Amino acid sequence: MNSIVTVNNLDKSYGEKQVVKEISFEVKKGEILCFLGPNGAGKSTTINILCGILGYNAGEIKYKNEDIKHCLNKFKQNLGVVPQELCIYEDLSAEKNVQFFALLYGLKGKELEQRVTKTLDFVGLLERRKDKAKTFSGGMKRRLNIACAIAHEPELLIMDEPTVGIDPQSRNHILSSIKNLSKKGMTIIYTTHYMEEVEEISTRILIMDSGTIIAEGTKETLKQEIFDERRFILELEDDSNLNLDDFYHIEGIKKVENKQGKLTITALKNVENLDKIISTVIASNTKILNLFCQTASLENVFLSLTGKSLRD
Ligand SMILES: Nc1ncnc2c1ncn2[C@@H]1O[C@H](COP(=O)(O)OP(=O)(O)O)[C@@H](O)[C@H]1O
Ligand SMILES: [Mg+2]
Repeated sequence: MNSIVTVNNLDKSYGEKQVVKEISFEVKKGEILCFLGPNGAGKSTTINILCGILGYNAGEIKYKNEDIKHCLNKFKQNLGVVPQELCIYEDLSAEKNVQFFALLYGLKGKELEQRVTKTLDFVGLLERRKDKAKTFSGGMKRRLNIACAIAHEPELLIMDEPTVGIDPQSRNHILSSIKNLSKKGMTIIYTTHYMEEVEEISTRILIMDSGTIIAEGTKETLKQEIFDERRFILELEDDSNLNLDDFYHIEGIKKVENKQGKLTITALKNVENLDKIISTVIASNTKILNLFCQTASLENVFLSLTGKSLRD
């Protein structure tokens, strides 16, 4: 895959405090690259450096193999940014807001008008185009903020926590819009501390904590690398005939627990033993009411890497 942006050994300090610590990563064409990490991890700092809003102490950033310092204008022309803080004019209408930002990117005339309409429609605000931004809900303002960043159809869109504190409907709208933009070929960098969003939209994930990237991969590879176990949960009608020792004779079983008819079995992932588990339950004349298989979540991955929860 072609690399749009390459970052090598990026370093950023505020006074004595190093907040981004020699991180390196690539942004490949067409991906939805998610930075997942708790508050204070250094996501916004990294993103703001990429956008050229913040300087850095050491490291190298390349746009398509050219040092960004030598092609800043070309890079910015192809960039759309949705910052963590809203960046819209409250006293202007939705339409005027989008127009203003599109003008900055050089759109004009009929093309400008068409793009404004198309973009407002895309974010679901066409009917409110004449209304001032200050009359909008938090979620609508967020969608307007996104419209301002995409009207010029950038090659790379950077979004910094665009769904914090908004209603579920706007959140779903934003997440599905991102998937649509990606389908149309836009490359997207998305930061969040919500692992559900990463599960839903990411094609690749960089897990960030305390200024460093501690893991990288797709949601599947990250979970696989970290966990070689899976967990079966069987809900039983009556567990009185069950002998837990019987399960330990089955290959690949690591742990068996029974709490009030809820039998939890932890087993090695690469051993096929579900049929034996079920026949062992049935052999003890116990009826199975329900069966779940639990696999690792990204929250588990983060917990296992850092020893803390994403929402500490
Ligand atoms: N202007 C600043 N001056 C001093 N420290 C800052 C400044 N901006 C951010 N920081 C610190 O840098 C660290 C990373 O912050 P940030 O990049 O905003 O994290 P995130 O976006 O992951 O929540 C935090 O410890 C934060 O307090
Ligand atoms: Mg941030």
